[in-house]
Amino acid sequence: MAVSVDHILRWKQTGQPAQPITMLTAWDVMSAQIVDAAGADIVLVGDSLAMVALGYDTTLPLTLDEMLICARAVRRGVKNALVVVDLPFLSYQTSGSDAIRAAGQMLKLGAQAVKLEGGHGEVVETVRRLVQWGIPVMGHVGLTPQSVNQLGGFRQQGKTEAESDRILAEAKALERAGAFAIVLEHIPAELARDITKALSIPTIGIGAGVHCDGQVLVTADVLGLSVWQPPFAKVYANLRQQAVAAAREFCEEVRSGEFPG
Ligand code: KIV
Repeated sequence: MAVSVDHILRWKQTGQPAQPITMLTAWDVMSAQIVDAAGADIVLVGDSLAMVALGYDTTLPLTLDEMLICARAVRRGVKNALVVVDLPFLSYQTSGSDAIRAAGQMLKLGAQAVKLEGGHGEVVETVRRLVQWGIPVMGHVGLTPQSVNQLGGFRQQGKTEAESDRILAEAKALERAGAFAIVLEHIPAELARDITKALSIPTIGIGAGVHCDGQVLVTADVLGLSVWQPPFAKVYANLRQQAVAAAREFCEEVRSGEFPG
């Protein structure tokens, strides 16, 4: 059955199904087909694809045009999961109308929702505007990679009382603005538990412990395709190694005359 935003909201409100929400990232049609076939509830076209698929050092250089190409490919590969697309850095910070234009382009290509980072006043106002125009929004607080230069690296957030109070307040403000779910990235498990208890919309954790309503990982990490994985990722397969071995075997067979037979 195709997953909808309403379905995700009711999941937390009714406690049914009585299991956590699963979200995985995708960046092209193949990765989308894989995570959809695996039964992920949500496919996130995360801006981590800037690093995973395009080779940038951070998510900051990713352009709206690059994201649109990847999001269209993912959309073509998904049959059942809810498709959520990250708004790239500088596509929504400049003005409310830029945000609506960028988010609207994602919905036009068939995405059902967008995700944007942060929970300060300006972001909350942008979320409110998008929701008013019928664009479902997933929030994202804690470690927000688009602010990596201000955060001083991809470090755990919410370690002091002041920081954790701020992140809890941001999550509540995003809920009030109409977000239908919130990603909690790289924060202490106790803080994620408190946020999850305080909200009536689902929290989806990454490096945020067991108490969230769902979990997300970057698929390239799950599959062992990425060169580097964050400390909280779990690697379920070693596809990079297997792929190099397969490609090497092809090269050897061609050079030795074994292939084509
Ligand atoms: O871009 C991304 O992949 C993300 C997840 C880490 C939540 O935002």
